[in-house]
Amino acid sequence: MRKSFIISAMAVVFAACGQKVAEPVPFEVVPQPMEVSLGQGAFKVVPEFNIEESVPAEAAERIAEFQQRISQATGKKARAGEAFDFYADPTLGPEEYAIDITAERVIVRAATYNGFIFAIQTLKQMMPVEIYGTGRIKGGIALQEASIKDAPRFAYRGMHLDPCRHFWSIDEVKKYLDIMAVYKLNRFHWHLTEDQGWRMEIKKYPKLTEVGAWRNGTVIRKNWDTNDGIRYGGFYTQEEMREVVAYAAKLGITVIPEIDLPGHMVAALTAYPELGCTGGPYEVWTRWGVSEEVLCVGKEETFTFLENVLTEVMDIFPSEYIHIGGDECPKTRWAECPLCQARMKELGIREKNPVKAGQLLQNYVTARIQKFLADHGRKVIGWDEILEGELAPGATIMSWRGTQGGIQAAKSDMDAIMTPSSDGLYFDHYQTRELDKEPFGIGGYAPIDKVYSYDPYNGVPEEAQHHILGVQANLWTEYIATPEHLEYMLLPRLAALSEVQWCQVGDKDYGRFSKAMDRQASLYEFLGYTYCRAFWGETGLAGVEPAEPAAEN
Ligand code: ACM
Ligand code: ZN
Repeated sequence: MRKSFIISAMAVVFAACGQKVAEPVPFEVVPQPMEVSLGQGAFKVVPEFNIEESVPAEAAERIAEFQQRISQATGKKARAGEAFDFYADPTLGPEEYAIDITAERVIVRAATYNGFIFAIQTLKQMMPVEIYGTGRIKGGIALQEASIKDAPRFAYRGMHLDPCRHFWSIDEVKKYLDIMAVYKLNRFHWHLTEDQGWRMEIKKYPKLTEVGAWRNGTVIRKNWDTNDGIRYGGFYTQEEMREVVAYAAKLGITVIPEIDLPGHMVAALTAYPELGCTGGPYEVWTRWGVSEEVLCVGKEETFTFLENVLTEVMDIFPSEYIHIGGDECPKTRWAECPLCQARMKELGIREKNPVKAGQLLQNYVTARIQKFLADHGRKVIGWDEILEGELAPGATIMSWRGTQGGIQAAKSDMDAIMTPSSDGLYFDHYQTRELDKEPFGIGGYAPIDKVYSYDPYNGVPEEAQHHILGVQANLWTEYIATPEHLEYMLLPRLAALSEVQWCQVGDKDYGRFSKAMDRQASLYEFLGYTYCRAFWGETGLAGVEPAEPAAEN
């Protein structure tokens, strides 16, 4: 029950008899909340909180941390009071929240953990950027009077990271998650295995990391047939991955691990050559691209291996979804391998075209792994190649080769997540056409306004739109070797992505979003993130060679 008018009235007096209220910062919350009505007055922030018992316990912990931060920032003692009142409102949906700020108090309502922490994110975005630090904020903090009701457009709001082509430490991963959380993303797609490095400790197969996590060189620029000869690698221990899962969960983010199969497996094959069609020898790849060396799916031991690996994956990652890759799996080895051919015969695959026959064999692999995971209560996500052939229903399609895969999936009554490389959602692509300044990269063109303008329902018939679970951007790292470069590719496009994921169509407005960009830049600077300044007319990143030499004049 809402209660204690007297306590709340005392809070008003306390706030009102303090010094002059600081100017609130302009309302520039990203992603823009669904409904905002701004008032003229301001609320002077004091660390006097009432967290009602109805608030879920873990959310209450985050709220108490927020109270401590406000105490630190204002130099006032945290105490019970009703300046801020948090209570659970079961009429609100998952991830929904409401904030009412008057000159007297702030009332926050939500139904779930994420609802409460998103409300805190919004409140922080309404404060000076120094709120993200640990120091005192001179002059105090004021919040503009506002009534906010907010809920996301999409339930799946993801960001992907490739730690295989280049490796990112646990601290770098946490920093990546921190900025995702500011923008209310809720899924972290961690691409943990690749031809160029297996990054996840698997206790049953120690050679995956002893051997598979290390390569003997990295391609220099686009000279794919040579490399720098420098041993490169790294991996995450299970303990570290559990730490990331817990860290992300606190931020409202679910980690979705990807074990890319049956292609992109050269690192695993190097460790365990018996899992390939030819038996090797293999070498952890020192070049980029798509290798013909894939898992031999004619052998039962390959499935034993995958099930054992996935058992450890499930033990570490509690996510409902496990990503099983499925992209770019050439069918050449299967066409020549007697065991794969025998498997096709056993399955009754009579298709003569080796690519089509291979697709049907890949369908078998996908379905078998899907069933194994389903038996353990998990669902699969796969890249859109898994649609080729005759896919069994139940998988969620991650549409990357344009939007067609996602559209086809939705029309076929399957769920899809849109990550089209054609529509600005490949954050390894260049942000401007100034290639004499852009840090050297893979190519493509994904400027921030293109990211912003993407609508995941484009081309999806209305009756199938409910199958679009959400949107994600992917950040592959073939040509991205430093944390500064990684952050440069991520920011500020992540801010634009967040509005694609969160805002209702009518609430997206590039003009309004542009006005909030200076605030984003201040935030990145305050928190020590590198970011691309192309929006402010400056392209380039010190320490990374540009894509093309400067034009001579
Ligand atoms: C992909 O970009 N190969 C999914
Ligand atoms: Zn084979």
